[in-house]
Amino acid sequence: MASGSAIISFFLLSLALVANAADPDPVLDFCVANNSSSGSSGSCRNPSAVTGQDFVSEILRNINNTQAPNTFNAILASVSTFPGLNTMGLSIARADFGVGGVVPTHVHPRASELIYVAEGTISAGFVDTNNVLFARTLQRGDMIIIPRGLLHYQYNVGSEPATTFAVFNSQEPGLQLLGPSLFGSEIPTPVLASSLSLNESTIAALRGIYAPSS
Ligand SMILES: *[C@@H]1O[C@H](CO)[C@@H](O)[C@H](O)[C@H]1NC(C)=O
Ligand SMILES: *[C@@H]1O[C@H](CO)[C@@H](O)[C@H](O)[C@H]1NC(C)=O
Ligand SMILES: *[C@@H]1O[C@H](CO)[C@@H](O)[C@H](O)[C@H]1NC(C)=O
Ligand SMILES: *[C@@H]1O[C@H](CO)[C@@H](O)[C@H](O)[C@H]1NC(C)=O
Repeated sequence: MASGSAIISFFLLSLALVANAADPDPVLDFCVANNSSSGSSGSCRNPSAVTGQDFVSEILRNINNTQAPNTFNAILASVSTFPGLNTMGLSIARADFGVGGVVPTHVHPRASELIYVAEGTISAGFVDTNNVLFARTLQRGDMIIIPRGLLHYQYNVGSEPATTFAVFNSQEPGLQLLGPSLFGSEIPTPVLASSLSLNESTIAALRGIYAPSS
């Protein structure tokens, strides 16, 4: 029978394992994902069927700078779009911004993010668990690190289009956008109204924005 201290030890060990959670270390030179078997977490492709092309991706190649204001376009090269990243523990995204374009507030549950400004002037920031905002304006060539799991954004505050690249320490960083998570999900309206100190008609209006089809 487990003693109280054994239970506490197990609990602390579990916490430590969770705190250290990250993509596992590779046990092979490479493991190009066989997405014809079971998706991004599927088995390795047979090494005899792997070629140099499996370690190459062109999906970030196209310039996609939209000139229109208040817009952005982001592309993520993660294991699901670039199978060669499987077991490598990283991924990369590109974001192109029109003037005033914003990558809306969001979280990556499985990765820290290092953002590099390739073109333009970007204001980027994150909020810590004390609700303190850490934000800076970055010029071309500058970087900012966004700690894993913290709410953050990017905003083109310049007068020209902007482009950033972001690397993640996970092959699948995950993306949770604040607005759609709250108002595009099926969290009951009374829960949202109470959580946010808003009335139910305001919640309904916000649902209309984030879940227009429902
Ligand atoms: C991928 O997985 C499928 C289904 O398991 C298998 O038939 C196929 O041979 C695999 N392909 C490679 C290149 O390993
Ligand atoms: C570039 O943006 C256009 C318009 O939003 C979109 O149709 C296209 O797929 C994008 N290209 C890439 C490479 O993301
Ligand atoms: C695996 O996914 C990549 C990227 O989405 C795609 O280019 C490739 O055709 C897929 N391979 C198979 C066997 O489905
Ligand atoms: C809900 O709250 C909004 C904003 O405070 C207010 O304008 C509106 O009259 C309220 N609606 C109801 C039905 O209480």
